[in-house]
Amino acid sequence: MSPDPAHRLYNALWQIYHRPQPPPPPYGAANFPWDDPDFSERMLRQHLDQSHGAASRPQAEIFRLVDWLWDKLSLHEGSRVLDVTCGPGLYAVELARRGCTVHGLDFSPAAIRYAQQMAADAGVTERCSFELCDVLAMDAPSARFDAVLLLYGELATFTPDEAANLLRRCASVLYPSSKQCPGGRMVVELLDFEHIDRKDNTWWFADDSGLWGDSPFFHLGERHWYGEQNLSLEKFHIINLETGELHEYTLADQAYPTDTMASMMHEAGFEQVEIYPAWGNVKLYDAGEWVVYLAGKVPGVAENVTTQPNAREGPRLPMDDNPEPDRL
Ligand SMILES: C[S@@+](CC[C@H](N)C(=O)[O-])C[C@H]1O[C@@H](n2cnc3c(N)ncnc32)[C@H](O)[C@@H]1O
Repeated sequence: MSPDPAHRLYNALWQIYHRPQPPPPPYGAANFPWDDPDFSERMLRQHLDQSHGAASRPQAEIFRLVDWLWDKLSLHEGSRVLDVTCGPGLYAVELARRGCTVHGLDFSPAAIRYAQQMAADAGVTERCSFELCDVLAMDAPSARFDAVLLLYGELATFTPDEAANLLRRCASVLYPSSKQCPGGRMVVELLDFEHIDRKDNTWWFADDSGLWGDSPFFHLGERHWYGEQNLSLEKFHIINLETGELHEYTLADQAYPTDTMASMMHEAGFEQVEIYPAWGNVKLYDAGEWVVYLAGKVPGVAENVTTQPNAREGPRLPMDDNPEPDRL
């Protein structure tokens, strides 16, 4: 017979009491449940909440960043953009509104559903598509892009090996440069290594709705900094007060000094890595916490995939292949 809620609650509290200290670093991926359907619905509400930037930035800031990207990436009507971990498509749809052809990838079901609806509402579905997929499990690419975006620090949630691999795949989907045209470029946004919070910390709060549940819960959180690995780990212990169940989630953030990230990008097949602390001073609530890397593709590198002969004129995008698009 399964224990009653009071008994589960009792067990949950002892489990937390006996947790290993410091929390062991996650070997491999942490288990933040972005792709869980219920969690993704609750996370979507955070993405869209204009009072904070916990999941996505407020719309006014996104417009400013799209202006910046437009300028720095020399985007124009018809530019092809891939948004890796696009969330609810807030950048992608705005770029499509301005004339780009955009494809977004994310594994949050609620975010992708929202992005598709937003593209339909904006009347840009013919040049704005989204795909529910794990970007770490992308298939060999066939489409080519002028720009690849990887925004809001998401690269840091992957292990260094996964991140290096993902960067290589991003390089492989960019247009190579030719005598006539500069090659495609990639933008990576990461937390600024100098400003990362390295203090261990614990906190708690109780609520009955929000990201962590839609019935009364306790949230007990702790953060630990692993200096040797430059890794920040957050553990969230969520106790459902109605059922007594305990759910534990881990979010790991790998921190990269700027020279380390620049080297990783070179190794992945990029050149001329430009570094913009604080987004080059775009007006953002938390600009100082971020650093942006902008790099071009090294000619001839990461071309281990089929390139279409007339790629510049008209590569097939994943969205061209509906209903079963090529996956990256
Ligand atoms: C902090 S949000 C940022 C979303 C978007 N770039 C923005 O700024 O509005 C991170 C996103 O990464 C997605 N994500 C995390 N890991 C992923 C993976 N392995 N494959 C696909 N998407 C992933 C999450 O679902 C989430 O939508």
